[in-house]
Amino acid sequence: MKLRKIAVALAAASGLAGGHAFAAELAVVSGAVGKDISELRMQLDAFEEESGHTVKIVEMPASTTDQFGQYRLWLSAGNEDIDVYRTDVIWAPQLASSFVDLTEAMKDEVGKHNPSIIESQTVDGKLVAFPMYTDAPALYYRTDLLEKYGKEPPKTWAELTEIAQEIQDKEREAGNTQMNGFVFQGAPYEGLTCDGLEWVKSNGGGQIVSPDGEITINNEKAAAAIDMAKGWVGTIAPEGVLSYKEEESRGVWQTGNAVFMRNWPYAYALSNGDDSAVKGKFDVVPLPAGEGGSSAACLGGWNLAVSKYSQNQEAAIELVKYLGSEAAQKQRAINQSRLPTIPALYDDPEIAEAQPIVAEWGSVVENAVPRPSAPTKRQYNEVSKEFWTAVNETLSGRGTAAENLDTLEKRLRRLKRSAWE
Ligand code: GLC
Repeated sequence: MKLRKIAVALAAASGLAGGHAFAAELAVVSGAVGKDISELRMQLDAFEEESGHTVKIVEMPASTTDQFGQYRLWLSAGNEDIDVYRTDVIWAPQLASSFVDLTEAMKDEVGKHNPSIIESQTVDGKLVAFPMYTDAPALYYRTDLLEKYGKEPPKTWAELTEIAQEIQDKEREAGNTQMNGFVFQGAPYEGLTCDGLEWVKSNGGGQIVSPDGEITINNEKAAAAIDMAKGWVGTIAPEGVLSYKEEESRGVWQTGNAVFMRNWPYAYALSNGDDSAVKGKFDVVPLPAGEGGSSAACLGGWNLAVSKYSQNQEAAIELVKYLGSEAAQKQRAINQSRLPTIPALYDDPEIAEAQPIVAEWGSVVENAVPRPSAPTKRQYNEVSKEFWTAVNETLSGRGTAAENLDTLEKRLRRLKRSAWE
């Protein structure tokens, strides 16, 4: 669809076609990886044209952890300069009190979306944020290299380790000295909580804190999974992986220097870009499983929330409705391989044609594992920080996983006291 056609369709869908009594000047704050900002700008331009409002983007760093820290400060200071926040799926319980309840405004919209995503954004009956896209990672692999060495995509972490080591070694011997077996997110931030949860959960080690709030992380299967990942650092993964977030991993992968990468679907469209060394030379499969376990993908995703300090709440709600609409989600899926939160779009032939990963990822999303943000309530960020610290320490060689998980359990008990609040 041409931009103009999409804009008109969007406007019709959200009832904006009539004139407006006044034109608001809105500000939306968003972090970014890949082309998030230019895509957002394109959709905002269409919204501006249809609504008469203007919207400025306040751009944040890529790390969700850095964004969270800044937003928490702004919101606790009652910042009136930001109307709409792009929020991570895990933040709803912690930031709920600063956002407008969207239940009434979105009552005709929510039914189109995946109910568990709507539920994740509902805190004490209040719809805190409205979904923009969801996220569930993939194992990216080089089809050309696996074929060259006669390998199938791995189903277990042990297979991945073996294949990555063999191809890395042989490629290096053949003069491809920059080749790495596997890149992922090892930096101490929220992204490592996602990677770590996947290793642990897929090895039968649970979800850090269970859905009913019990601290379960200090167990042998969890420790074995994290020790396994420690074994990758400096062997199949570069030492630098200890400071990689999504974009650093993608950088190595997209210049052709990795056999495997763990990343979110946004990397799919970018890896097929004209400037990508791996264009047409890769595919995706679900993440591997531990021995006797099953694949676990961490549930991610981004939403839009209206600040209760906004002076333009009505216009801000219009904007949120627009960016979360079916047409906007479809455009985002086609251009950026972002996963829709509207199940019907997984059967959309135009999306499947443009970005096959989207059509293939419906069941991965359905089975994705949430981080324990609901049970740990307003303490999630602190819980996650303790977890990613324990994992990063282990990967860095400061203590074994068993020792670090022991310390982690004590720290989590201290945070929890008698109940999560
Ligand atoms: C992706 C996910 C988000 C997660 C983040 C971690 O952006 O969508 O939920 O917290 O990665 O880096």
